[in-house]
This record gives sequence, C-alpha cells and structure tokens, in this order.
Amino acid sequence: MSSDDSWKIGILFSTTGVTSIIEQSQLNGTLLAIDEINAAGGVRGRPIAPVSYNPDSVVSCYGEMAEKLIVEDRITALFGCYMSSSRKEVLPVVERRNALFFYPTLYEGFEYSPNVIYGGATPNQNSVPLANHLMNNFGKRIFFVGSDYIYPRESNRVMRNVLRQGGGEVLGERYYDFDADTAQFARIAQEIVDLKPDAIFSTVVGQMCIDFYRAYHAAGGDGRVCPIASLTTNEAEIAAIGAGAAVGHITAAPYFRTINSPANRKFLKAYKQKFGTVRDVTSCCEAAYCQMHMFAAALEEVGEMDTDRLHEALLGASFDAPQGHIKIDPDNNHTYLQSRIARVDERGEFVIENKVRRAIKPDPYLVYPGIHDWSFRTQKVAQTSA
Ligand code: ACM
Repeated sequence: MSSDDSWKIGILFSTTGVTSIIEQSQLNGTLLAIDEINAAGGVRGRPIAPVSYNPDSVVSCYGEMAEKLIVEDRITALFGCYMSSSRKEVLPVVERRNALFFYPTLYEGFEYSPNVIYGGATPNQNSVPLANHLMNNFGKRIFFVGSDYIYPRESNRVMRNVLRQGGGEVLGERYYDFDADTAQFARIAQEIVDLKPDAIFSTVVGQMCIDFYRAYHAAGGDGRVCPIASLTTNEAEIAAIGAGAAVGHITAAPYFRTINSPANRKFLKAYKQKFGTVRDVTSCCEAAYCQMHMFAAALEEVGEMDTDRLHEALLGASFDAPQGHIKIDPDNNHTYLQSRIARVDERGEFVIENKVRRAIKPDPYLVYPGIHDWSFRTQKVAQTSA
C-alpha cells in the first residue's frame, strides 16, 4: 500500500514526564491496533497513518497539540490523553473544530461531549464495585490519598458518597502536587500506618504512585493486611513498584493482563511480538487498542473522515475485546465495559478475585449509583481465568 492515500489520524500520548509509564502503554496499544488494521489491508484498501506528538505530560501541551493536529496537519480523528486535566484541554479544541476525539482512560465521569468517544471506565463501572468489595472484605474505615487535580478530587467525592451509603467512613483525605517528594509520601505513609484504617483508596497517578506505594511499604504498611486500593495502579506501575512493596494491593479495572481467554492470549502474543514484552500491558493500553479497532470499523463503514458520520457509525458499535465484549453506548458516547477487581500476588501479578457477570452500562452522571445494586451481580473468581 502506498502511504500517499493514507488515512491520517492524530495521537497525543506522552512518552516523557510524570504519566509517561501509562501513556507509553496507551501509545503501544494504539500502534499495535494500527499495525493489525494495516496488515489486514487497511481501511477500504488504504493504510492508517498516525501523526504522533509527545505532550511531555504537560497539561497545556495537549490542547496546543490538538489544535496543531487539526489546523496544521488537517487531521480530524484524534486519540490520546491519560489525565483528566489534559482531556479538559483538548475538549474545547475538538468541539470548536468539530473533530472526533477518542479518550481511552478511566475518569471521574460527569461529562459528555458529542465530539468524544469515552473508552475508559466511569465511576459506576469501577468505584462502586470497588467500594463494595472493600467494605465487604476489609472494613468500613477508609483513608483517601490522591494527586492534586480534577480526577482524584472528583472521584473521591463519588467514592465518599458510595462509602457513606454503605455505612463507611472516610478517615482522612490528602492531595499531593506533581512535584511532591518522597519525604512527603514517607510522612503520610507513617500517618496512615499509625491510624490503622481498614483500607486506603489511592488516586495517586503516574510516577508519584510508585513513590507512595514504596513509602507505605517502608513505613511498615502491608497490603495483605491493609491494602491500597486504586483504579490508577495498573500492571506497569506494579512492575515499577516491585512485587515486594506491591503484594496484597488491589485494583479495579475492566481488563487485567492475567485474563485467560483466547482474545486476550491473541492480544498479548501480538503485543509481545511487536514490543518484546507484555510487562507494561495495562487496562488503559487495552482500551486504546480497542478504540483504534472500533474507529477503523466505523471508517470502513463510512468511507470518509467525516466527524458526524463517524460518530453516528460508532454509536452502538461493539468489539470482542481482550477484556470481553464491549459496546459504545448510543445514549452517552461512553462504553459498556467489564468490571473486575484484582489483588497483587507475591510474584507481582494481578489475581482476579471478583468480577461482574456482564459488561456494565456506563452511567457517567451516576443516575443509578446505589451500592447495593452491585453485590448480586458480582461473582467470586477462584483463579486467574476471569
Ligand atoms: C484520570 O486522570 N482520568 C486518570
């Protein structure tokens, strides 16, 4: 295939800076999907050609680079962002210029844009099952620690409400800037160990997440006794933290690398072939992979880079993802996703302990947030084959 007649798409994931560990995994998922699409003949016989910029994890750069992709590179389908603060920078740009933006990251909800396809979990798909799991298995006294930006503050607001509905209590709540040093994490870790909560809910992201887990371990915190539960600590961060400090901690996500299904084995094999390892495969990587495949299927149907027609084709579209079957909800542009809860074992691998029976409808505005709705839908999982 010649590249002259390619379909140009824009990519905004950071390969440097505080969130580069997770964003690199999202970039890899995106590039793997593009390889697969192109190897299968492209879209209507034309290859997808990515134009990729590195925003260096600097929030304002995402908006500026989105503008550059649309105005200078004349691209109207964009993929990118991890932090909600960076998505908020891109949002007005794609709305003003009527571009289509694919966001493959869990987030705090309470947003809808006709120009965004949301591929990550909303709080009803992860926070609500996680709160339920913590209160049932560990206790009702929870301490919150987060990075200081919109996602942690908003998702803690939701978590606080869900815990209170279930009779739980928030013992404390702390936020840290992106330049927080290890001494600050050592102090809060000691404070938490002294306070003895039943569990910690962490919305600390990126490099800081690694510092926090290590500080908790150094202060004598033991995940097997009082776990840190998080939505933003995935396989890549666990690998960086190390199995010794990570054991016992908990993450809720639609996807874990340890899922034992044909679709996931195929995905991991292809990933390993391209990148040499599966060490950094995360739920956000998988979401990015799925979004690119779903975009390509919509483009195949529509045959042109028309935002409105692509949007229409994407609503209700489904995909047999590595996590299981997923579908874009035509009501709100978010995605029906699987929901799993996993715990890190001694080898540093996530062992899935709980999952819902079927993909959960996204409810970004928490119209149906009742915690008791979830317990009967979950099932205990005996081993890693979830
Ligand atoms: C996030 O900021 N949405 C993880």
